Amino acid sequence: AKPVILDMDPGIDDAAAIAVAVNRPDLDVKLITAVAGNVSVEKTTNNSLKLLEFFDRTDIPVAQGAKAPLKREFKDASYIHGESGMPGYDFPEVTTKPLAIDAVEAIHQVLNESAEPITIIGTGAYTNLALLLQQHPEDKPLIKEFILMGGSISGGNVSSVAEFNVFTDPDAAAIVFKSELPITMIGLDVTLNALLTEESTNTLREMGPAGEMLYGIVTAYEDVHVGGKPMHDVNTILYAVDPSVIETKPFAVDVVTEGPAIGATVADFQYRWHEPGYTNVNVGVGINAEAFNTWFLEQVAAMN
Ligand code: BDR
Ligand code: CA
Repeated sequence: AKPVILDMDPGIDDAAAIAVAVNRPDLDVKLITAVAGNVSVEKTTNNSLKLLEFFDRTDIPVAQGAKAPLKREFKDASYIHGESGMPGYDFPEVTTKPLAIDAVEAIHQVLNESAEPITIIGTGAYTNLALLLQQHPEDKPLIKEFILMGGSISGGNVSSVAEFNVFTDPDAAAIVFKSELPITMIGLDVTLNALLTEESTNTLREMGPAGEMLYGIVTAYEDVHVGGKPMHDVNTILYAVDPSVIETKPFAVDVVTEGPAIGATVADFQYRWHEPGYTNVNVGVGINAEAFNTWFLEQVAAMN
């Protein structure tokens, strides 16, 4: 199985991504680290524990990470994900605890204990990941690749140009994008083209306990677009297990860290800024929505 670390801010779509990941026999989830994003880091940590208890995967450790972005003030997205970050389903009180060490130390340890390089999947702001690169640059060869939900090369969801994860901590995103490690950016260009239809959502309700839980949280999700709900973060798990389903193209991508375009991920299509041919990010540019819906329901069917 492919060893992965999940760095997340659950978050409804993060929760769906965790549900899929921890139930895939071909993924070996070594660690979940939480970051402030959709809601506070205390809540995203707690939500991670809730899900692992729900799926009886408390063998997977959870570590709490950054409380706030590197430089900017923290603003959550509870207007989309509810006060708890995971509304719509009544999870029992958690009985497990996060690790005593913080997210950066936990990632550092897991990377160093692994016999092979690990894929890091990031679906929140990249604060923990940037801190890891700053505090443990020697760990870079231990990271196989980053698969990140975030960014957009065609317009944003929190401003006309910026996507929420990158906008929340653009300084962190800039550090990660300049790391020279392999990066696949699964941004809005993919996720807004793979909406979970109302029909698929309704199907979840009849799919046993996991389906009922996911139906509850997905229907409480305020992120609504014509045609369904974006399951943003789930697309990173799909890419991790079957990269052929998502079309990607390598580009030279920079993150804007100030001014009116703050949080934008700019692909230098015309090479006016970078040396011709330079690329640092493999950008997801397309997906088949119907294939995504079918795949997601198959994942849920395999959960019970
Ligand atoms: C991203 O922002 C968060 O609210 C979602 O969980 C997803 O990671 C979408 O822009
Ligand atoms: Ca997220």
